[in-house]
Amino acid sequence: MNPATRVNAIGLSPIRVFSQGAPADAIPMGLGEPTWALPEPARKALAAEKGPCGYGPNAGLPELRQAVAQWHGADAEEVLITSGSEGALFSLLMAWLGPGDELLVPDPGFAAYPILAQLTGALAVTYPLCRSERFRLDAKAFVACLEAHPKVKAAILNHPGNPTGGGASLEDLCAVAEACRQRGILLISDEVYRELHFGTRPASLRDANSYGIVLGSMSKGWAAPGLRVGWAVGDPQWLTPARSIHAFAVTAAAAPCQRAALALLEASDEVLPQGRREIATRWAALASAWQEYFGAILTPPAGTFYHWLPLPVARDPMAFCLRLRDEAKVVLVPGTAFGEGGRAFARLSFAARPEQIREGVRRMATLWGNP
Ligand SMILES: Cc1ncc(COP(=O)(O)O)c(C=O)c1O
Repeated sequence: MNPATRVNAIGLSPIRVFSQGAPADAIPMGLGEPTWALPEPARKALAAEKGPCGYGPNAGLPELRQAVAQWHGADAEEVLITSGSEGALFSLLMAWLGPGDELLVPDPGFAAYPILAQLTGALAVTYPLCRSERFRLDAKAFVACLEAHPKVKAAILNHPGNPTGGGASLEDLCAVAEACRQRGILLISDEVYRELHFGTRPASLRDANSYGIVLGSMSKGWAAPGLRVGWAVGDPQWLTPARSIHAFAVTAAAAPCQRAALALLEASDEVLPQGRREIATRWAALASAWQEYFGAILTPPAGTFYHWLPLPVARDPMAFCLRLRDEAKVVLVPGTAFGEGGRAFARLSFAARPEQIREGVRRMATLWGNP
């Protein structure tokens, strides 16, 4: 028997496949997850679990919904707690897209967006980011794509973005939100990296406009990807159908994890600056090793723990990243894993430990000028 046709075009995540094939002693600069310890408030909350371990309400524990609402300046009814922000993406797209529809996604962009569109039967179409401004959102290019694709029913922004670390100005967010509002398009602003910045906290879609849905997560800034707790915030009119999908898919995010998430959110004043110190230390390790081995000065991204690295010209990026992985023993993700716009790039995750980053850069330099 064959699996359903919707599975045909999807396999494992290309990032996972690339990382899993690496030699055992390779330096891991592929996966995008914090490598520092789960913060104390979450560990304490998990250790304090006792009594029945119930399912909890489908939309999430009321106290966590309330805390997330407060974080975003929203009401609790405007919050859906999900199994990671990936659970929110899946549920929103399943609820609002179907065959014949189109989803507008950034290129380069997070590899899950087009795959999730495909699962709904819809097609992903792409908008470019502003390459000359370090892959920032360009509202004009976004709106031009909306106009060229009348079947678009939903669109995704991601800022700071994976894989480029590019940001979005408040002005561009306003322009994009207005264009989507006029056309009645569901706008999803994926802001899971917002708290991992290098000085200035990036703008949120919620600062620009009350239109659209903002996604957040415990996975990046709060350093707890294994809790699998994320959320969607916005008009309940968009969220209610997504809540039904999420309820039938997974019932609810795990209740003990939601209690740990609440503890983390309540301790944000300590946990988030600590996360930013961790990425600043790692960035410093990358920048100083880069200067030492490549003689060049790097500038940090708007946020995230990704450096979007131009590859040496005239190299096939996939073949070059395979040589980096198997000969130099350092894992980067080839830019093509994030769309056609990533053809001349690789994503370097500096979430790894500082000593691994220094050694990874040293190993990369051995292959760089060596065809
Ligand atoms: C841009 C972006 N959005 C969403 C996610 C999903 O994160 P989670 O489901 O852990 O919240 C990721 C994970 O890497 C991501 O990079």
